[in-house]
Amino acid sequence: MKKLNGTNKINIAVFISGKGSNLKNLIKHSYAYNSKFRISLIITDNSKALGLKFAKKFHIKKKIVNFDNTKLVEKNLVMFLKRNKISLICLAGFMRILSKKFIKNFNGKILNIHPSLLPKYKGLNTHKRAIKNKEKFSGCTVHLVNSKLDSGKIILQKKVKIFKKDTPKSLALRILVQEHALYPKAVKKILANL
Ligand code: GAR
Repeated sequence: MKKLNGTNKINIAVFISGKGSNLKNLIKHSYAYNSKFRISLIITDNSKALGLKFAKKFHIKKKIVNFDNTKLVEKNLVMFLKRNKISLICLAGFMRILSKKFIKNFNGKILNIHPSLLPKYKGLNTHKRAIKNKEKFSGCTVHLVNSKLDSGKIILQKKVKIFKKDTPKSLALRILVQEHALYPKAVKKILANL
């Protein structure tokens, strides 16, 4: 098998808005033996995102983007990503909807992780709604991003049982553990076909 060195690894940009535990986990996997990718950019819409600390800790370039003027900002962001030779974008707790135009520029190359078994529970408050509806299972999904919210092709999913005593918080924590197992696997699967 061809050994990858630092220069021929695939560059990934991770977009975050908050804690960044999925980001940290992807960084950890990027350091694994024979990993084919590196996290070379962290993009956020939130200058206070806790996950930004991983940029400093792991010496990764970061960019804080004010998405309010979407058109212009996204145009500049596309150029910035292309300049940095980004081949794949991973949304990881990124709480913004990207424009059709932006998505077209990276068609088939934007992944998102969502804390439900899509197509069920698109959008926000997934755990609260699943518990309220007395679902027996929830879980997480990694999917390709298209122009409709949480609707692109599903790459991988993991089911998680909901217990009677679960609160949205306890369920979220159990699902997050599975997200950390799922996202790197989905990235590998996508990279194999890039
Ligand atoms: C994760 O649970 C992720 O699935 C969810 O936000 C959390 C981010 O956690 N994403 C969404 O709800 C997107 N619709 P993290 O910042 O610790 O990775």
